[in-house]
Amino acid sequence: MEVLRREDAQYVLRPVREEDILEVMNINRLTLPENYTYSFFYSIAKSYPESFIVAESASKLVGYIMCRVERGFSKFGGLRFRKLGHVVSIAVMPEHRRKGIGKALMLEAMKAMRNVYHCDEVYLEVRVSNEPAIKMYESLGFAIVDTIKHYYLDGENAHVMACDLLGSLK
Ligand SMILES: CC(C)(COP(=O)(O)OP(=O)(O)OC[C@H]1O[C@@H](n2cnc3c(N)ncnc32)[C@H](O)[C@@H]1OP(=O)(O)O)[C@@H](O)C(=O)NCCC(=O)NCCS
Repeated sequence: MEVLRREDAQYVLRPVREEDILEVMNINRLTLPENYTYSFFYSIAKSYPESFIVAESASKLVGYIMCRVERGFSKFGGLRFRKLGHVVSIAVMPEHRRKGIGKALMLEAMKAMRNVYHCDEVYLEVRVSNEPAIKMYESLGFAIVDTIKHYYLDGENAHVMACDLLGSLK
């Protein structure tokens, strides 16, 4: 559990609990066009609870990150078969942005993917127009390794970004 102290508020970062899922789904619907069913959130919470982290302030959830573990070829190319942490979804409520919550959620999840689930690298897809998110991932050591045409339902392309977890975490 991690505590972020800011001028006007305090944020606690902790692993998700079953009773958080509806609140997480609400944040997801308010902040992202990619939404998922209750059972999708539930199954990831059950399978990978340590890298499904919520940020809470004054007994309300203000952000979350949800990840799962996969096996596949390295996103950096070549034929290395690796354990990959996949950031499926991350969001912070608009009124709580630019306070370091997104970055802290990413860092906590990356540590769990490396130390608990023994992932070699972590990757994610991001809309090519999503500058805030791309900047945040770059500040954490992620690089763009691929671009997938028409990845999103509305036709927008996605960058695939990846970060090696075997080096030190920034
Ligand atoms: C992306 C998102 C999670 C970032 O959350 P956040 O809590 O505001 O991020 P942080 O405060 O930790 O920002 C970390 C760094 O990211 C970069 N960054 C974040 N928002 C930015 C913005 N609007 N413009 C430029 N850079 C930005 C900055 O480098 C920032 O560091 P700084 O504040 O010291 O300059 C948030 O904007 C969000 O929820 N967006 C909607 C959902 C979304 O797009 N999710 C990602 C899908 S792939």
